[in-house]
Amino acid sequence: MIILFIGDIVGSAGRKALRHNLPYLKRKYRPDFILVNGENAAGGRGLTGALAREFFDLGVHGITMGNHTWDNKEIFDFIDLEQRLIRPANFPEGAPGRGTMILREGRKKLAVVNLQGRTFLPPLDDPFESADRLIAELRLETRCIFVDFHAEATSEKIAMGWHLDGKVSAMVGTHTHVQTNDERVLPQGTAYVT
Ligand code: FE2
Repeated sequence: MIILFIGDIVGSAGRKALRHNLPYLKRKYRPDFILVNGENAAGGRGLTGALAREFFDLGVHGITMGNHTWDNKEIFDFIDLEQRLIRPANFPEGAPGRGTMILREGRKKLAVVNLQGRTFLPPLDDPFESADRLIAELRLETRCIFVDFHAEATSEKIAMGWHLDGKVSAMVGTHTHVQTNDERVLPQGTAYVT
């Protein structure tokens, strides 16, 4: 299974980059699933319904979010309805939306988990505990599990990578808007990039 994941799409420049580059990336990698982090898509703060539709129309299968999930109030109109959109799973119990999704394309099935870190970010439920609980549930559906860990500190992301090694297919970090080119496959087979 080939997964194309695109980190935080920031404002109109990010959206333009996606529009321009996605056809090429699709031709080059032929991904089964395309995921984007969309929490900065609306002028850097939040996501609107129109922008979510724009991403889906471009061929995006699923959108993940982060600490800016609630910045654009329009999200409250569709976050409970849209099955292809998730926000961090370790938000407090009762928060709108959901933290995991299962995407299907043909006969392929991919589970996606969104989590948010707690180092240099507001306090939330324990992302490590949340990850363990959710992954145990998702494993009953599929072994293909992808995690977007939206966090500030490289150290916290690396810790999560080791924590998830062998339990998920891949864990990628988002939020910092600058790629840390430390991609690797961890000893138990989990793909990782900060
Ligand atoms: Fe963020």
